[in-house]
Amino acid sequence: MDILSKMKDYRHEHEKLKWEGTFREYLEILKERPEVAQTAHSRMYNMIKSHGIEENEDGSKAYKFFNNSIFGVEDSIERLVEEYFHSAARRLDVRKRILLLMGPVSGGKSTLVNMLKRGLEQFSYSDEGAVYAIKGCPMQEDPLHLIPHHLREDFFSEYGIRIEGALSPLNTMRLEEEYGNRVEDVMVERIFFSEDKRTGIGTFSPSDPKSQDIADLTGSIDFSTIAEYGSESDPRAYRFDGELNKANRGLMEFQEMLKCDEKFLWHLLSLTQEGNFKAGRFALISADELIVAHTNEAEYRTFINNKKNEALHSRIIVMNVPYNLKVTEEERIYEKMIRESDMAHVHIAPHALKTAAIFTVLTRLKDSKHQGIDLVKKMKLYDGEVVEGFKEQDVIELRKEHQDEGMTGIDPRYVINRISSAIIRKNSKSINALDVLRALKDGLSQHASISKDDRERYQDFISVARKEYDEIAKQEVQKAFVYSYEESAKTMLNNYLDNVEAFCNNQKLYDPITGDELSADEKLMRSIEEQIGISENAKKAFREEILIRISAYARKGHKFDYNSHERLREAIQKKLFADLKDVVKITTSVSTPDESQLKKINEVIARLVDEHGYNTTSANELLKYVGSLLNR
Ligand SMILES: Nc1ncnc2c1ncn2[C@@H]1O[C@H](COP(=O)(O)OP(=O)(O)O)[C@@H](O)[C@H]1O
Ligand SMILES: [Mg+2]
Repeated sequence: MDILSKMKDYRHEHEKLKWEGTFREYLEILKERPEVAQTAHSRMYNMIKSHGIEENEDGSKAYKFFNNSIFGVEDSIERLVEEYFHSAARRLDVRKRILLLMGPVSGGKSTLVNMLKRGLEQFSYSDEGAVYAIKGCPMQEDPLHLIPHHLREDFFSEYGIRIEGALSPLNTMRLEEEYGNRVEDVMVERIFFSEDKRTGIGTFSPSDPKSQDIADLTGSIDFSTIAEYGSESDPRAYRFDGELNKANRGLMEFQEMLKCDEKFLWHLLSLTQEGNFKAGRFALISADELIVAHTNEAEYRTFINNKKNEALHSRIIVMNVPYNLKVTEEERIYEKMIRESDMAHVHIAPHALKTAAIFTVLTRLKDSKHQGIDLVKKMKLYDGEVVEGFKEQDVIELRKEHQDEGMTGIDPRYVINRISSAIIRKNSKSINALDVLRALKDGLSQHASISKDDRERYQDFISVARKEYDEIAKQEVQKAFVYSYEESAKTMLNNYLDNVEAFCNNQKLYDPITGDELSADEKLMRSIEEQIGISENAKKAFREEILIRISAYARKGHKFDYNSHERLREAIQKKLFADLKDVVKITTSVSTPDESQLKKINEVIARLVDEHGYNTTSANELLKYVGSLLNR
């Protein structure tokens, strides 16, 4: 289906969801589906729940909603959802607090909030997440505010729904003027959250504190209409278009909250605590919204150390959003960031991101007092690897050791920026682990927020990551070689046996192509036998023993293959690996490889490209590097 018809379908679907009717008709909806009257907090929790919750073996919960965008910080997410969203949904006291996400730079705070916003937008299109509001209200006011306070107990007994908040000054006036106080006739409509259209989702970011106007938060007088309505206190002469107005019923994001002037914070205080805020010359305006703010740790510390902020402090619930500490998950973060960047077309060699992730995670870990555990082991344990001498219980203990682990270290954005500059510098569309490590190292001196001590520590971690990569690289090349192992082993065995036969029977061999007569190839036989320490004196006995074994096999009708003789198999394996070493070494030498060597190299490269995700450039680079390692 083409994009235009998809868009048409989409429009059509949305058209169908639209609804408007009188308050009387709205009450009919509520009778059937009381959940549409849920609070903002409850809607958020139900949105998350609607994507599915899984219980892990250890009893912890995994929320599918976060699965594909936030990696490796499951514990923090669980705490956030359970201790804040879930409790707030049940109208517990946390609802009356500002949610403050605290974490290191580029640790995913904004990403998390953006997900919640997108999630709410989508949810408002679903049946269970439907939202209704007084039609024509700039704050999409809850229609239930129309029910006078003295009848709310009765309403509760009939509908089982609690009403909070008072009808806004604007709608109080409209009720009187437009509807002659006939509440049942007031028009209600279904609304859909949208940050772009500023419905149910607001964002406030601090700018210059001197020039920033409280109107950004609470709206302002519309001077062009004062003349028409005669007074500043006429709500029709006021624009309810501050972020707090617009975010009503949904979510309000307060970016870098503690950078803000205090006067802004006091509005939040009243809003969270009392569910209302003051705008212009009006009575308090009720609003139901979830306030999520974020900050870094340093600002937070300064904030709580200031006595003046005590009242605010007690109205805030702080949730840590630390860096991820699992190498595999860190790799996924980079993959995601690269997919979303303009580097998506660049070839990043296998293990390059993993190597970077090893470095990054190391910078975030804290030393353990436990016996025999160094940072590398800790890193592996955290990533779910098996480390000899440690059990799962040890990992739990390790995690408990430092509550603030993950609040410092290198951030993912630094890594992505360095990869990007490595690409520019190398001027190539192919980049490998060594390029990345070099770029990470070079960038350390330019990184403003790294202290001298940390820089030295981090440089050590670059070397550690490099060592880890060396092992991976060697194994990778061996793997690519071993892939054709069966074939090579068979060929080598047959070749060896032909020669052994000729040697023992004092016969000649014939070249299969030219038909020329050849003597048994002593050099070849010895090169294999030497692998398992068979001396010149013992070679004859060994060869005869093999021939006896072959005929014994033949008598029983079994086929003799390279698994049939333990020591011979060992010899052939070792010889193959030794050949590999030579082949790889040759790629690094200046002299040009001969034809058969070249063939091998090309085979291994083809294998790396076809099966292991390399391109020819990165595969060649890998072989060269492993060659230099083997030459050391
Ligand atoms: N745990 C994580 N999972 C997924 N992406 C992450 C994670 N931590 C950081 N990122 C990525 O790093 C980048 C910076 O994150 P951001 O949300 O802007 O951080 P913050 O607001 O905390 O400074 C984003 O591209 C984000 O997707
Ligand atoms: Mg941010």
